[in-house]
Amino acid sequence: MLSQTRQARIADQQAAARSAYTLAIREKFAAQVPREYRAHGISELFEGTRDWGGTLSRDDALALARYLKRPTRFLLLVGPTGTGKSTAAYAISEHLVGTLEQPGRFVSATAMLTSFSFGHEGRSAADVLADYSDAPILVIDDLGSGNDGMSDHQKRSLWSLIDARWANGRHTIITSNMSIKRTRDGDGLRELLGESAWDRVGDSLTLATFDGRSFRGER
Ligand SMILES: Nc1ncnc2c1ncn2[C@@H]1O[C@H](COP(=O)(O)OP(=O)(O)OP(=O)(O)O)[C@@H](O)[C@H]1O
Ligand SMILES: [Mg+2]
Repeated sequence: MLSQTRQARIADQQAAARSAYTLAIREKFAAQVPREYRAHGISELFEGTRDWGGTLSRDDALALARYLKRPTRFLLLVGPTGTGKSTAAYAISEHLVGTLEQPGRFVSATAMLTSFSFGHEGRSAADVLADYSDAPILVIDDLGSGNDGMSDHQKRSLWSLIDARWANGRHTIITSNMSIKRTRDGDGLRELLGESAWDRVGDSLTLATFDGRSFRGER
């Protein structure tokens, strides 16, 4: 049997290895995110004010508080431009990487859809789809009206991504300035994703609508 001091030493070593791993995956995650979105961390947005700078209704702020404790498979952050969706997506996902101790990816929707067609950094399109499908935490930033010219292949890839992530219980955070439902101005997110993908998303979803003023131009 191991002596108690040796057991304690092993436990210390394991804890140190774990915190080094967590630090490394947090740093690797943050390195993928544009600097502008990294200006506000979770403690400032949430613990400090509890209303994310006044841009969320009380119910939506509560929904995000619940999500931080028990994340659903999908989190949708929607609302007009400049209201802080990408900033919130970063703060929340960075927090998840730390608390779940799992790696994350942060990608703009446009870059992701392009890589579904052409691959990325030496990875084939199929590999890229597999990488995004497997990432334990994935942020798809700004899935929006700019993406409605998707090719059939991109649509199929997006469907496959959402289906795989749903089936494997992965955490996916999507920001968008589209509404959920179709409006006079055109399709909503539901139409963009397609009915089958929307069913997956709706199965385990937290939704927060950012409808305060735009933060842009305040600085
Ligand atoms: N809670 C906040 N308090 C103060 N400033 C904020 C807050 N959230 C975001 N900002 C700042 O507001 C600006 C816009 O935020 P962000 O880019 O996250 O908005 P967005 O909703 O993603 O916009 P878009 O729809 O154009 O992508 C950024 O400079 C960001 O640092
Ligand atoms: Mg944004």
